[in-house]
Amino acid sequence: MGEKLIIFDTTLRDGEQSPGISLDVAEKLEIAEQLARLNVDYIEAGFPVASQGDFDAVQTIARTVHGPIIAGLSRTHLSDVDRCWDALKDAEQARIHVFISTSPSHMQHMLKMTPEQVLRETKQGVERARQHTEDVEFSPQDATRTPLEFMLEVLQAAVDAGATTLNIPDTVGYGIPWDFGALIQYVKSQIKGDYIISTHCHNDLGLASANSLAGVQAGARQIEVCVNGLGERAGNAALEEVVMAVKIRPDQFSGLETQIRTEELARTSRLVSRLTGYPVQYNKAVVGKNAFTHESGIHQHGVLADRETYEIIDAESVGQKGSQIVLGKHSGRHAFSESLKNMGYEIQGEALNQAFFRFKELADRKREITEADLEALVADEISTEAGNLYSLVELEVAGGTVGTPNARVVIAKDGQRFEVKSDGNGMIDAAGKAIQQIAGIEAKLVGFTVSSVTGGEDAQGEVVISLESGDYKVSGRGVSTDVVEASARAYVNAVNRLIRSMARKEARNSEVGP
Ligand code: KIV
Ligand code: ZN
Repeated sequence: MGEKLIIFDTTLRDGEQSPGISLDVAEKLEIAEQLARLNVDYIEAGFPVASQGDFDAVQTIARTVHGPIIAGLSRTHLSDVDRCWDALKDAEQARIHVFISTSPSHMQHMLKMTPEQVLRETKQGVERARQHTEDVEFSPQDATRTPLEFMLEVLQAAVDAGATTLNIPDTVGYGIPWDFGALIQYVKSQIKGDYIISTHCHNDLGLASANSLAGVQAGARQIEVCVNGLGERAGNAALEEVVMAVKIRPDQFSGLETQIRTEELARTSRLVSRLTGYPVQYNKAVVGKNAFTHESGIHQHGVLADRETYEIIDAESVGQKGSQIVLGKHSGRHAFSESLKNMGYEIQGEALNQAFFRFKELADRKREITEADLEALVADEISTEAGNLYSLVELEVAGGTVGTPNARVVIAKDGQRFEVKSDGNGMIDAAGKAIQQIAGIEAKLVGFTVSSVTGGEDAQGEVVISLESGDYKVSGRGVSTDVVEASARAYVNAVNRLIRSMARKEARNSEVGP
């Protein structure tokens, strides 16, 4: 085993800051369990002081997830650090990640603090964190726009106060690979003490993965990443990209190794995409649908003769092989839950009952049920089960070239059924209007995509819709062999997310954010 490169996953913290994403505790736990299967070293589970929801999610993950070290983000205020530790303290192993802004613009306009105050805050925040745990990370936010001398002073203060990891955030994605690499090298050469240096790169110029790798080449031994490159604005470095770059080109990274189980990459990507409602672009490196599809005749010929002619990654090694046929019409409840277990899902109770019911319905319409079908179904159930949310009970639609399209929709919440009929420009529009009317929501449909989960005439359709209401933008996802039903499910899912986002914003009485 070569020297280790630590993978610090922040999908549940920075990734969740992507516009329109709002995960609840059950969804975050599902993602954290999958990150544990993927074998990341750290899961940054949230920012406990931000809201009660964030606190609960971090605490639940800390209490439940085994394997990875669980991290929580904290400002330097002593009460924030204590609150962060309260959420983390039951974890097998825990890290507090303390941050404060150090760039002139952030200090002046956001913190309204002098550099001396920032220096004092750094010391006291890190010292307090060290009273709780020996594993403390410190980040000078907006590092790449911070004058070098001041950043070095703050970083040295953090190490002297007990920080064991120094993270260099390119908060606004300003870095260019060679200058970011040089920065990492310089910090490493100047700061004395026993610490690991880490990268945290945003993707505003599309360089997050390249900058992170330049940082690794220059001596960083931790990379902060998000699955599918999620994160604030244009996102963070994509976990799957940096992990595979290091694996495929050991010659460029002095034989460094991660402990990621790369065969879990595709499934992790699909789960995160489904639960966040963020589709993965078809041509996304490593996990995109087309990452292993060869279109031109010459390429197809080459790959048939020898895969390596046009592929540098073996699709199987990242979990992108054709999905297996696992079940059919006659499969029973036991076979169903065993298949889910083999795929790594531990769903129980009402979610399992509902998923089995949906599976039986699907088996009536589709001859062969694959892993991908099951994943889609289960993700749908997890996101509907969480919280006291609406779920689709019945849908009846009429449309065509004659008459006005209309829909009758029955949805349930807290055991109560609500029924509404509505007209629309089409059957999907009519169903959407009825759902909004029941939920008392007024939102505009701003995005609609449909794709098939597997191939074939009886394939399930997967619909992703985006709804906008005032300042809120959310997406929702639904699957079914019937595209109108999938759309209604996606509508219900999006409406649930909208309601949750609104409630969550209200709960954030003080606007705390990294
Ligand atoms: O981008 C950033 O600066 C952050 C910090 C909190 C590490 O996310
Ligand atoms: Zn960030």
